[in-house]
Amino acid sequence: MEEAGLAVTRDDFGNVIGRLRGSRSDLPEVWAGSHLDSVPHGGRYDGALGVVAAIHAVSTIGASARTLGVVAFRDEERGCFGSRALARSGLLPGRFVELHVEQGPVLEREGVPLGVVTGIVGSTRREVVFDGAAGHAGTSPMATRDDALVRAAEYVLRVRDAAQAIDGAVATVGVVEVEPGAANVIPGRVRLTVDARAPDGERLGRLLAALDLDQGVDLEPVELGPSIRSILREEVERVAGRAVELPSGAGHDAGVLSAAGVETGMLFVRSLNGGVSHSPEELSSDEDIALAVDVLTATLRRLAS
Ligand code: HGY
Ligand code: MN
Ligand code: MN
Repeated sequence: MEEAGLAVTRDDFGNVIGRLRGSRSDLPEVWAGSHLDSVPHGGRYDGALGVVAAIHAVSTIGASARTLGVVAFRDEERGCFGSRALARSGLLPGRFVELHVEQGPVLEREGVPLGVVTGIVGSTRREVVFDGAAGHAGTSPMATRDDALVRAAEYVLRVRDAAQAIDGAVATVGVVEVEPGAANVIPGRVRLTVDARAPDGERLGRLLAALDLDQGVDLEPVELGPSIRSILREEVERVAGRAVELPSGAGHDAGVLSAAGVETGMLFVRSLNGGVSHSPEELSSDEDIALAVDVLTATLRRLAS
C-alpha cells in the first residue's frame, strides 16, 4: 500500500487501511479490499486477491473527489472479526466493493469469467461438547460404556441430515477434538464445531433448532443493494459481454458492511478446478483476474467521483 502511495493506518482491531486522499473530504469514503488471512492449507486467492486488486485499482485511478481506501480486514476466516469490529465502531466508509474468487462452480459451468453477487449467506458457528466416561478399551464391557465419541459421531450424522432437509442450507463439522486421545482409552470428552448456513434467517433458525443449538446469527444473510450491483453489471457486460448474477454461499466482509448499512457491491472472478476453495487446488486464471481488475477499477472510478 505504501509503495502505491497510500497513507497506511492500522486500526484498533488490526485492520490495515491505505488511503488516497480525495479533494472532497466532506464526502464519505469509497473503499475496496478483502482479507489476508486464510485457512489451514488454504488457496492463494481467497482474500488476498481482493486486497492486491484493490491496491492496483486505487493506484490506477489516482486522486479523485472522494477519498479512496484499500482495506485488509483482520481475521475474516474466524468469523469476520475485523469487519464486525469496524461495523460496531461506526468508523465505516460510505461505499465498499469487494473482489473475491467465487469459491464455487457456477461461473465455470456458465463459461463466464466474472459474476455479480446478489446476496451473501447467513452463518452461525457453535461449539458442542460431549461428556462421556473415559475407561479402559479392553476391560470395559460394550453394554456399560458411555463413549463420548460414539455420541458425537451420531450427532455429526444429524448435522448432515438436518442440513439436507432444508433447501439451500449447509452445515459442517470441521473440528473434532477427542480426549484423552489414546488408542486404548474410551473417549471421555469430545469437542466439535458446527458451521451452519442458510440463505435467510428463517431457514438458519430451523437448522439451529434441528441441531439443538442456541438461536442467533453470527453473520447476517444480506441482499446486496441495487446501486453498486447495477454499475458492476454494466462494467462486467462491457468486458465480458454477459453478466451472470449469483448468490454467495461463502461469508464475506462485504456482508458485514452491507448489514451495517454501507452501500456495498461484490464481484466474483471464476474459480477453476470445479470451484474448489479452502484448498491448495484453488485456482483462477490471470486472464479472468485481469478482467476483474478492469471492472473493479472502472466501478471504483465511477463511485469515487
Ligand atoms: O467461511 C467462509 O465462508 C469464508 O471463507 N470465511
Ligand atoms: Mn474469503
Ligand atoms: Mn475463506
